[in-house]
Amino acid sequence: MARAMKVAIVDDEQDMRQSISQWLALSGFDTETFASAEEALKSIGPDYPGVVVSDIKMPGMDGMAFLKRLMSVDSGLPVVMITGHGDVPMAVEAMRVGAYDFLEKPFNPDRMTELAKRASQSRRMTLDNRALRKELSDGSTIMKKLIGASPAMERLREDILDLGQADGHVLIDGETGTGKTLVAHALHAVGPRAGKKFAVISCAAFSEEMLAQRLFGPIEEGGQIPLVEEARSGTLVLEDVEALSHALQSRLLTFINDQGTPAETRIIAICNDHEQGRTVEDALRPDLYYRLAALKITLPPLRSRGEDILSLFARLAEQFAEEYGCEAPQVTAQEAAQLLQAPWPGNVRQLINVAERAVLQNRRGSGSIASLLMAENEEAGPVMTTEGKPLKDYVESFEKMLIDNTMRRHKGSITAVMEELCLPRRTLNEKMAKYSLQRADYL
Ligand SMILES: Nc1ncnc2c1ncn2[C@@H]1O[C@H](COP(=O)(O)OP(=O)(O)OP(=O)(O)O)[C@@H](O)[C@H]1O
Ligand SMILES: [Mg+2]
Repeated sequence: MARAMKVAIVDDEQDMRQSISQWLALSGFDTETFASAEEALKSIGPDYPGVVVSDIKMPGMDGMAFLKRLMSVDSGLPVVMITGHGDVPMAVEAMRVGAYDFLEKPFNPDRMTELAKRASQSRRMTLDNRALRKELSDGSTIMKKLIGASPAMERLREDILDLGQADGHVLIDGETGTGKTLVAHALHAVGPRAGKKFAVISCAAFSEEMLAQRLFGPIEEGGQIPLVEEARSGTLVLEDVEALSHALQSRLLTFINDQGTPAETRIIAICNDHEQGRTVEDALRPDLYYRLAALKITLPPLRSRGEDILSLFARLAEQFAEEYGCEAPQVTAQEAAQLLQAPWPGNVRQLINVAERAVLQNRRGSGSIASLLMAENEEAGPVMTTEGKPLKDYVESFEKMLIDNTMRRHKGSITAVMEELCLPRRTLNEKMAKYSLQRADYL
């Protein structure tokens, strides 16, 4: 049997508690006994790693009241009720309230074991599912998805951790593909609202009426709960907030004002409007803008993130290579310079595309990163000129990328890297310190 499940046995009669406990312990359960429901409630919380067996007739809080309390603590907790002989109405009522099953006195011990086994299995599955869901919405998992060590990325990580804890509404803006939606997820996942509802709607994807209906209701026959309700105590993400009509802007403002502080529903507004210098400030009425932009995150365009471009590319190429079961392409110095100088109008999303295509090309053994970038830039229209960067920056970015790649390939073997790059140990150590590369990350 996998890790032993607990069984909490609740009965006011000591003989009964004792014999059930001994019997189940023999079958490999980790039993604990309680003489009253009140006492048991002190030890049984949400995610209790086991099941409960309880008598119905007890002085003080009876089994039925106990069951109701347990259901409000954790509605997924299997509770087996022991009913008096022939007490059918009671058994039916227990099942209705949420009991897992019932046993009629006097019962066959084998049947008790059987039931405890089934209930434990169901419990284990519930808990495993919960753990999985938690891991997926868990802050550390999503923070790990954010690649990059540039000062801009470091600041972004700090902002996410700070603002994730705060209560105010947040405005996120930045060019397309810079990670706005990802950051909205991260803000929700690292904060106290993590387990709560995370609702997303695009204000540009619906007609005004439909959007009003979806956001504020009223609920139509058999319709969905309005998002402002659904996201209560959670997070409501408004994508393309600049597309909100004036009428809806005032309704949203009223909703925000009526909520008071701290806000129950946290709003994360995402602005995707970056044409011709028209800002979100121009699109929203000022009072709404100031409520939403209490906390603001502006994501930097990829072209301004320097060496992150190379580490992102390397990491993404490696992921795709693994997915396709082939080698990741080695980036030459010239290609590195091209990656650094490309305008990247589609930002990280575009870089993901390029990395995937570079891997596929490499698998076929044809083409080059340069030709990929050229095709990209043609699609994007006239090549934008990027701000000039000193040669030193290019050289350093490339140096970092090379050491990073080589360390990865040799799984952190310093000797192998020294040999391949013809570097003395001290120089290698100095450079790794300079670029914040840690050997432990490659082992
Ligand atoms: N720092 C990062 N590290 C790794 N992946 C990233 C990073 N930033 C963004 N991404 C990835 O890039 C892609 C685009 O990100 P996202 O969809 O969040 O951008 P967006 O700003 O919301 O774009 P749009 O304006 O088009 O809605 C996603 O696949 C996301 O996971
Ligand atoms: Mg988005």
